[in-house]
Amino acid sequence: MNLRSFKSLFLVLAVIPLVTACQNKEKENFIKENTEFATAQTDKMLQSVGQPTGKNYPRTMKNNGELAVTGMYDWTPGFFPGSLWYLYELTGETKWKDEAEKWTTSLEPLKTFTGHHDLGFMMYCSYGNAERLSPKPEYKDILIESANSLSTRYSDKTKTIKSWNYRKNWNDTTEWYYPVIIDNMMNLEMLFYASKITGDKKYYDIAVNHSESTLKYHFREDFTTYHVVNYDTITGKVLDQATCQGYSDNSMWSRGQAWAIYGFTMVYRETKDQKFLDAAIKATNVYLKYLPEDLVPLWDFNVGQEGYTAVGKSYAVEFPGKDLRDASAAAIVCSALFELAEYANNQSYTDYAIKMLHSLASPAYRAPLGANANFLLMHSVGSIPHKSEIDKPLVYADYYFLEALVRYKNLNKKS
Ligand code: GLY
Repeated sequence: MNLRSFKSLFLVLAVIPLVTACQNKEKENFIKENTEFATAQTDKMLQSVGQPTGKNYPRTMKNNGELAVTGMYDWTPGFFPGSLWYLYELTGETKWKDEAEKWTTSLEPLKTFTGHHDLGFMMYCSYGNAERLSPKPEYKDILIESANSLSTRYSDKTKTIKSWNYRKNWNDTTEWYYPVIIDNMMNLEMLFYASKITGDKKYYDIAVNHSESTLKYHFREDFTTYHVVNYDTITGKVLDQATCQGYSDNSMWSRGQAWAIYGFTMVYRETKDQKFLDAAIKATNVYLKYLPEDLVPLWDFNVGQEGYTAVGKSYAVEFPGKDLRDASAAAIVCSALFELAEYANNQSYTDYAIKMLHSLASPAYRAPLGANANFLLMHSVGSIPHKSEIDKPLVYADYYFLEALVRYKNLNKKS
């Protein structure tokens, strides 16, 4: 062996493993530090919120800095129990399992709820994680009953699950009798679970039909998404494609695009149908293309741009904040990309996910201990058009941040 080949061999055998070991240590420290912060911050949240009463699910922060909670029939009560499950997964400590069980089981009355489409978020983030991490026979029954309740909102005419009940658009000019929103993709995971556990394909069929309709009618040619699609209840035809929480009907609302990315990645996992993977990839690529340097998007990618106009009673008409970010969208996409990278066999998605996670965990977005009403992440946006939760923490930003942390931790275990 000549000197040059010896040097190359030395590099491969000694230096590369050393670099890998350093990277692994860095990752380990990152996960440890974020887990320690998240448990300390959530301890404070538990002290401030007390025991679950059915009316005190952490949601955001009031303008005066106090914790704002919701009742269980809002769309977000499943996220706090879900975060507690992720803390149990990250630490293995019984304390977090006990808290997670307590907050999860407080949601049991929701199993018969049919008032809107969000039951998947409400029950699968809570009971779904409970069943995955610490199964009990009653959890299965509760999830199946919840899947039945969600299925009552499905119509064979539109081949979708109705998201909301009747409402009007921001101009008050159009009535939506059958509005379906892109967010609804996220509720399908519970239906896939119900088919697997019961052996009854009806839930799977509803989820696939809904995904196919969404693929047809929510995507524009460039694979940005419409937030709302309103269907004719009698013919099943599309009557309107619009926004409710984005800047304008034709804009890319960041969290809507995040739901599309995550939703279609999940549907591909459950179906292995290539067209759903293609949709997830194309939705991701257009999202990544227009991200700012720190990888946390503006609340809407097109806010204030030529060709995009907020209308009617939407607060976006007068809202001046063109630089406002939405950390919740970043957290959702970050978590989704860890999974999509594997299906798309695309290392750059993993690299993006890791960078997004570091950006969210930096002082620019992660709250100081004891601040931010004890939520983990700062700088999310609930809904500008509704003048609600503007530049605030949101419980679902924290949930997907913790999920992404779990996925990052498990990354090398799989590969
Ligand atoms: N699913 C409601 C939202 O994303 O704001």
